[in-house]
Amino acid sequence: MTNDVIIHDVVIVGAGLAGTWAAMTAAQQGVKDVAVLSKLHPLRSHSGAAQGGIAAALNNVRPVAGTGPRGPLEQIPEGDELVDSWELHMFDTIKGSDWLGDQDKIEVMVKDAIDILYQYEHMGCVFSRTPDGRIAQRRFGGHSAPRANYSADRTGHVLLHTIHEQALKHGVKFYPEWYVMDLIIEDNSVRGVVTLEVLTGEIRTIRAKAVMFATGGYGRAFKITSNAFANTGDGVAIAYDAGAPLMDMEFVQFHPTGLYRHGILMSEACRGEGGYLINKDGDHFMKKYAPDKMELAPRDLVSRSEQTEINEGRGVMEDGQGIYLDLRHLGAEKIMKRLPQIRELAINFAGVDPIEEPIPIQPTAHYSMGGIPTDVDGQVIADAEGTPIVGFFAGGEVACVSVHGANRLGTNSLLEASVFGRRAGHAIARFIKGGAELLPLTGDPAERNRRIVAELMDGDGRENVEDIAQELKSTMTQNCGIYRNEAQLKKALNDVKALQERFKSARVMDRSKRFNTDVLAALETKHLLTFSEVIVAGALNRTESRGAHARTDYPKRDDEAWMKHTIAHKSEDGTPRLSYKEVTVFWDRFPPQERKY
Ligand code: FUM
Repeated sequence: MTNDVIIHDVVIVGAGLAGTWAAMTAAQQGVKDVAVLSKLHPLRSHSGAAQGGIAAALNNVRPVAGTGPRGPLEQIPEGDELVDSWELHMFDTIKGSDWLGDQDKIEVMVKDAIDILYQYEHMGCVFSRTPDGRIAQRRFGGHSAPRANYSADRTGHVLLHTIHEQALKHGVKFYPEWYVMDLIIEDNSVRGVVTLEVLTGEIRTIRAKAVMFATGGYGRAFKITSNAFANTGDGVAIAYDAGAPLMDMEFVQFHPTGLYRHGILMSEACRGEGGYLINKDGDHFMKKYAPDKMELAPRDLVSRSEQTEINEGRGVMEDGQGIYLDLRHLGAEKIMKRLPQIRELAINFAGVDPIEEPIPIQPTAHYSMGGIPTDVDGQVIADAEGTPIVGFFAGGEVACVSVHGANRLGTNSLLEASVFGRRAGHAIARFIKGGAELLPLTGDPAERNRRIVAELMDGDGRENVEDIAQELKSTMTQNCGIYRNEAQLKKALNDVKALQERFKSARVMDRSKRFNTDVLAALETKHLLTFSEVIVAGALNRTESRGAHARTDYPKRDDEAWMKHTIAHKSEDGTPRLSYKEVTVFWDRFPPQERKY
């Protein structure tokens, strides 16, 4: 065992787009000692799984005149009238958020979008191209212009590789497969983290002047999810346990097209390229729910429509729990060129070639709108008054800026992670260069974490961690899913509390130190149990329907009572204490409207 304490100026936890952008930018701005910890190999971070595009109003293409909402796109000739603008992107995002996104922050994101796309291009990112060599763009749900900039159906992958190379070039130090167990905050200032090195099992403290969490989302609390196994919401749970608040956790996005039973993402680009959704009667049912946008309505609306079709007996597959995504009419050439990975995944995991047959899909837990509240520079905010937690930053899906409000538009997540990751990098550089100090620690926080692992390995407990995790996922899916009501949410809350009790007697089977994935799974399950309680408590309290939060007992949006953010703090007895914070609205520019598509 080693008790060595490691020291860095800056520790960033998570090597996806937000964390790597922040690290690269801070280093580029002259911060010498930037370290990135990742529970995975950095290039396996979940940003790399995003497929369809990154939003920015570049105005490279437009719909061919007179061909309707599904018609072909063409390059905009030099000097011709433009179809898109950051203002239109801003409006679409506000409307998509069901008026819960903070409009001042959305404005920052959509304006920075254009510049960050060109920074990617200058770094050599391999985008798909229009015939004259501009970045290719396609349609995406809820966007009123084709502004999803893409690289076939592997956009996250190419962006992540591009920024990772830049971080290496600027001397960022990566710690692959180092799991963070604890965040140390004393007197409202960050002091460092406690880590478990997966290879050796050593648990150590790392002290730092600044810590950023960029650990991704929490989709693994649900049974069917597009999220990687790693997306267990570690960052939200650790920050919450350390005293930071969580914001808007009840808003969980279900993507309309996860591969049936597996949940694997079948990109919205499939519908952006013209794919149809059909039920068991062959009906293009979206015409009932979103007559104008059809399949390209926002995700909350499309997923609810699919679920309604399924609930009313018009689903496909033997259990009626699927819907078909039909790409056949796009033709082999387009599918192979624009959606090659989708074809590969459908063949490998469902035995279906989309050139020949429709793909069975179902809604899949995909994105966490809620998270650790930050300002536009990634600074974590402790309360409704805006008090910062000094030296603590967050970015990407673990954070809630809030630009997505109650429902994120597709392609705005790669954008958000990039824009606010870069801004956090600048803010961290200002903080360090402005004289931030390495603050002292009380005792050795690694010690209490060693005791947690020892108890899991050697305690008297008999509870099986995997059983607890599976029961949690079942209740979250059944009772806190696409549709929820009071009785279901009360049941979910009771279940989560009972599972938290059982977890106190959890014990792992593997008692070795090196690469003990049993211990990791136990720590992750504890995190799932921690933040799931916050999701359910927020959902139970919010007696309205807004964006991804659809209450069958309160089916209407209620702006008077509920146009506000939920803030949850962990109280002394361990339960969430909820309070609320105003949404920033530009009343003269984007006042609330009824949301129709
Ligand atoms: O459907 C997709 O390609 C996912 C994109 C996103 O979540 O932004």
